Parts: sequence; structure tokens; C-alpha cells
Amino acid sequence: MQNKDLFKDNNILDPNKLPMHIAIIPDGNGRWAKQRGLPRSTGHRRGSETLKEIVKCCARIGIKYITAYAFSTENWKRPKEEVDSLMNLLEEFLSRAHEELKESDIRINVIGDISKLPKSLAEKIHDVEKMTKNNTGLQFNIALNYGGRDEIVSAIRKICQDVKDGKLDINDINEQVVKSKLYTYDIPDPDLIIRTAGEKRVSNFLLWQLAYSELWTSDVLWPDFTEKHLLEALFEYQKRERRYGGL
Ligand code: IPE
Ligand code: IPE
Ligand code: MG
Repeated sequence: MQNKDLFKDNNILDPNKLPMHIAIIPDGNGRWAKQRGLPRSTGHRRGSETLKEIVKCCARIGIKYITAYAFSTENWKRPKEEVDSLMNLLEEFLSRAHEELKESDIRINVIGDISKLPKSLAEKIHDVEKMTKNNTGLQFNIALNYGGRDEIVSAIRKICQDVKDGKLDINDINEQVVKSKLYTYDIPDPDLIIRTAGEKRVSNFLLWQLAYSELWTSDVLWPDFTEKHLLEALFEYQKRERRYGGL
């Protein structure tokens, strides 16, 4: 669909009420593969292609930030074979994403504890972040070895260090100080969070940042997710009334 059609007659999307930031939990790759008698790794591969398409689509619509959950701090519990294949796929995804997204001015940023990742993947992350850092289009954040609790623990550690070093007074610790120590220190909180595959939980994703995000879930398995589903989510989002605790 062309950009102008999305906003046509104001009956599809209101360009003035787009979410600035969409967080995505792309779940259901394994179930998608199982239904077809395919290895789980094939589901992940198809899921990575879906992600690329959805990112391009968001860039076209005018969304400024996407944060996708690619690998959680709990996903290490999976069989080694699956973890290894996910790490390889992520490395390949980053190499190809840079090539394929070159034209679209997308900036790639990884959030999570990358110190625990295979060295070649960590290097790829540095390269891609460096190569895309001056791009001014959509910022695509990939949460990799990311956990909301892990992020908060590391923020607490940094704050305590500042207090210990005499750079910060305990009475000056506030929400802004906490935010400044998170991976997302320079990213606005998500307006909308999308989770696929019928699950209705946040699974340790962006625990601090999701405080007032609108939640939208779908039974569709992530590899089957298309632009049509994204538009459904956006359309529903535009009908919501966000009150932030007020009246
Ligand atoms: C989500 O798909 C992707 C990752 C966790 C990497 P799953 O692998 O969780 O798929 P299901 O939930 O088993 O179907
Ligand atoms: C969340 O999905 C993590 C990612 C999509 C990377 P999971 O499939 O790991 O979540 P649970 O285990 O069902 O809560
Ligand atoms: Mg899952």
C-alpha cells in the first residue's frame, strides 16, 4: 500500500495520531514451524524476514522508533542447538539488514547485555551501529540478550556507583535519573506494544518503559504477521484514550 493511501479520507489512519514508538514481541516462530513439520530454526528465519518487512513498513508510515525483542535473558534456557542457530541467524540478519536497509535511512541500535554474546556477533553489532549512526530515519532497536529486570539491576548499580563517587546525592535520585541509566536513556517510552501468537504477557520486556504503553495482542503467529495486521493495531491504537492516571 502506498503511503498516501494509508491516510486517505482520514478513514484509515490519522497521521497526527501515530505512535512515535512501537515495541514488538514477535512470538510464535516455533509454533509456526511445528504446524508445518519444519525445524524451529526455519520459523525463526521466516520471523526475521517478517521483522524486516514490518520495519520497512513502519518507516514508510512515519513511525520514528521500533523496538523488537529478538532474544531475552531467559532464552538461554533453550536447547543449545536452538540458541546457536538464533545467534547465527542474528548475525546474518544484521549483516543483511544493513545492506537491505541502506536505502531507507534506518538507524540500527542494539539494547541488552552484549558482553555475553558470541564475539563475532558483538563485533557485527558494533559495525552496524557505527555504519548506521548518522541515519536520520526510523530508529530500529533490537533487544538482544535483553531483560527488563537485568536492565533495572544494571541501572541501580550505576546509580550506586555515582553516589559512592560523590557525583550524586541520594535525595536527587528520581525517575529522570533512573531513565538516564537505562539502555533506552535517549529513546521515548513505547506508545504501543504488539505481541503475537496469543500470549498476553510482557515476558520481562521493557518493564520500566511500558508503564503507560497501549497493549495490542493478536493470535497470528509472527511469521504470518503482515502489514494488514500492523494497520489493524495502529487503527485500534488511534481509537484508544490514553489517560495516564488522569481523568
Ligand atoms: C519467538 O518465537 C522468538 C524468540 C523467542 C527468539 P518462539 O521461539 O518463542 O516461538 P514459540 O513461542 O515457541 O512458538
Ligand atoms: C519472548 O518470547 C522473547 C522473545 C520474543 C525474544 P518467549 O517465547 O521467550 O516468552 P515466554 O517464554 O512465552 O514468556
Ligand atoms: Mg515464544
